[in-house]
Amino acid sequence: MDEKLKAFVSACDELAQSGCDASSCVSQAAPLMLELVKTGHRLLSPNQMQEDPKAYARNAIHLGDADGTSLFALVWLPGQWTPVHDHGTWGVVGVLEGVLEERSFLPADNFKKNSEYYELQTGGIVLLNSGSVGTFVPNPDHIHMTGVPEDREKAVSLHLYGRRMNNYHYYDLDNFTRRLIDISHFETR
Ligand SMILES: [Fe+2]
Repeated sequence: MDEKLKAFVSACDELAQSGCDASSCVSQAAPLMLELVKTGHRLLSPNQMQEDPKAYARNAIHLGDADGTSLFALVWLPGQWTPVHDHGTWGVVGVLEGVLEERSFLPADNFKKNSEYYELQTGGIVLLNSGSVGTFVPNPDHIHMTGVPEDREKAVSLHLYGRRMNNYHYYDLDNFTRRLIDISHFETR
């Protein structure tokens, strides 16, 4: 692994082990990510930048313990999007190449009607250019979909999470439900 990546991962793991709350964790990790993404995609080896014509590709760079951090390099071909989801933890996103779009979703009624009824309304969007960093915290959950529209170029981004990110809440917009689904990744070593 690249030395800068290695140093970033150990600094973030140390941060998570310090017991910081979500807001404090992302506030401290964001400047580290900003510094890291200045290097651009040459930070990553070819097997950390694998792409998949079928869906956006998640390349695992660091998988900590269940309650440690994890880091992925995501490769987004034009037209590839996540489903609507939340992570149940904090996250820091840094863009290495292209423009990453994040569309937010908000609870239509603060989910008060019924705790199992998840009606969403669309919120705003964020466009993260190469070199940009964004963060999110849970409680309330940050519900979003991320991707690259058909008419934009491929994007490559780094995603740091406050836990081992091997599943997330998927929201079914038609049926107002959500469920935990496993998400796959490519091994990179
Ligand atoms: Fe996400």
